[in-house]
Amino acid sequence: MAFPWTHTVLRSHTCGELRRTHEDESVHLSGWVNSYRDHGENLVFVDLRDRYGKTQIVFNTEENSEIDAIARRLRREDVIQVEGVVRYRGDDLVNPKLATGDVEVRVHRLTVFSTSKTPPFEVDGADLPNEELRLKYRFVDLRRSTLQQNIILRHRLTQAVRQYFDGLEFLEIETPILGRSTPEGARDYLVPSRVHQGAFYALPQSPQIYKQILMVSGFDRYYQIARCFRDEDLRADRQPEFTQIDVEMAFVERDDILKTIDGLLSHAVMQVRDIDLPTPLPRYTHADVMERYGSDKPDLRFGLELIDIGDIGAASEFGVFKSVIASGGRVRGINATGAADKYSRRLLDIDLKNFVGEYGAKGLAYMKVAGGRLESTIAKFFSDEQQQEIIQRMNGQDGDLLLFVADKANVTSNALAALRNRLGKELKLYDPDSFSALWVVDFPLLTWNEDEHRYDAEHHPFCQPHKDDAELLDSDPAKVRADSYDLVINGYEAASGSVRIHDSAVQQRVFDLLNIKEEEAEARFGFLLEALRYGAPPHAGVALGLDRWVMLLAGDDNIRDIVAFPKTQRASDLLTGAPAAVDVRQLQELSIQIDQVQ
Ligand code: AMO
Ligand code: AMP
Repeated sequence: MAFPWTHTVLRSHTCGELRRTHEDESVHLSGWVNSYRDHGENLVFVDLRDRYGKTQIVFNTEENSEIDAIARRLRREDVIQVEGVVRYRGDDLVNPKLATGDVEVRVHRLTVFSTSKTPPFEVDGADLPNEELRLKYRFVDLRRSTLQQNIILRHRLTQAVRQYFDGLEFLEIETPILGRSTPEGARDYLVPSRVHQGAFYALPQSPQIYKQILMVSGFDRYYQIARCFRDEDLRADRQPEFTQIDVEMAFVERDDILKTIDGLLSHAVMQVRDIDLPTPLPRYTHADVMERYGSDKPDLRFGLELIDIGDIGAASEFGVFKSVIASGGRVRGINATGAADKYSRRLLDIDLKNFVGEYGAKGLAYMKVAGGRLESTIAKFFSDEQQQEIIQRMNGQDGDLLLFVADKANVTSNALAALRNRLGKELKLYDPDSFSALWVVDFPLLTWNEDEHRYDAEHHPFCQPHKDDAELLDSDPAKVRADSYDLVINGYEAASGSVRIHDSAVQQRVFDLLNIKEEEAEARFGFLLEALRYGAPPHAGVALGLDRWVMLLAGDDNIRDIVAFPKTQRASDLLTGAPAAVDVRQLQELSIQIDQVQ
């Protein structure tokens, strides 16, 4: 595509633009030397690169001896400008892999804008160098086409988001970065105040409290593409600073939020991936997905549901199953359809067993279905009838592999959910380019914190308890559901939100359950509680992990590939060397003394 504004003084076309229709035109191109080939006595070929593509440049040094010496000194990543004429390469020489592959530019003038040190790795080399090197030389890494495509995709997604919300009368409102600690459950990043010595700002873990206050102030449709900061353990899908598409609405119920985000997701995937996503997205209760998939973020691109055979196990002669059921545990399994020959005994007994062991499972029982019966070292503990019952319950066919974990309920969930994901991938049960999104609703309001012997908020302390569960608040708090919801895409938590409490008395009641004392609540969120006493509309909201959305839309599984300047697993920026020691004078101004550095 031609971009008129790229026709500047220094270039008439981009490196992705020239076609056969430009034959015989005089052009000037600017860009990076992507590769360099010296073809004998008087021909030098260069692939010139910019973010739009690559164009083959030919220096006929015999025709133009003036540039001979310079052209022969060109090296990878030098930045040059060439002036020349577009020529058809000839029927035998066209390169169908390149958009500009029909043509080349015969150069008659060359300007070297700047030369490059030998780059630490080739920009379009076949092998990726290690990530540390890539992050240290991020300016070179970011020239790679995959990363450029990811950054462009991210841009297009944020544009689609803004366009969508603007069309629905949402207001984009910024909230402070220097603020009070917010209750998202991670550790805060703190910023010392020079003016108020000994006092600290906390970088926002999310704009949660501010957006609720905006509802109280009457901005009934808010969104923000907001930076969030969390000092937590990092993983492939987490960064210490990341971006949320943060949304809040007043005078709405849960369905309004879900509908709004359904619309956003289908608009966004159409804009950036040309995928027609049918809406409304399916909705599952938390209890339902935990039972069927063992996870609150199931990947629904494939089946492999968890099936309970506890009753059969209890009636059998298999000691492991019997005793687990007797002590209140569960026996659940997965039918790895058609996989009976795909896993050797060794893989099953060692590899897969250790794999579920990482999730706390003490073993992995397996049975193959053959000739309408079960084949397994433990089959003898099951009567013929019980074997038939298992086959039927598990929907078994000859050639299927049945895998079971017997343990405490949550161990069976965690272990089998992980196993399910692994089998889905290994058995290639889904198209990696496909896209599956669903809502999980009605999470529990509270989770029991075994270490501290108290309840924690499952999401955050401002979630409205489910209206059908009001009585349970007193009698059985663990059973209370929240009016909350998560959006799950391809097995990732892509968004999370809830209907909020807008009544300060209910809010106090939830703080009581969380054992947050009145003084503590006043000290931490007093300003929100006070705001709720001045006329608060019913409100609800959600926050979408923008980085994860881009990662999923890009078909990537490393969040660092879709952030221009990401941090490592240890929260360092290898490019700039942050975090770094600071000047003693800066510390003195803040009255901070460093005791000891390990
Ligand atoms: P929550 O903490 O679930 O909710 O965050 C919302 C979404 O943000 C993304 N996310 C992250 N992405 C990358 N790196 C991280 N470290 C990270 N942490 C979270 C996830 C997640 O679903 N204030 C509430 C939302 C609300 O109730 O409106 C909140 O922040 O995709
Ligand atoms: P064992 O009785 O320990 O020799 O185990 C017999 C089979 O049952 C082996 O395949 C074990 O991996 C499996 N097994 C042991 N404990 C469990 C468990 N908690 N859940 C599922 N299978 C188990």
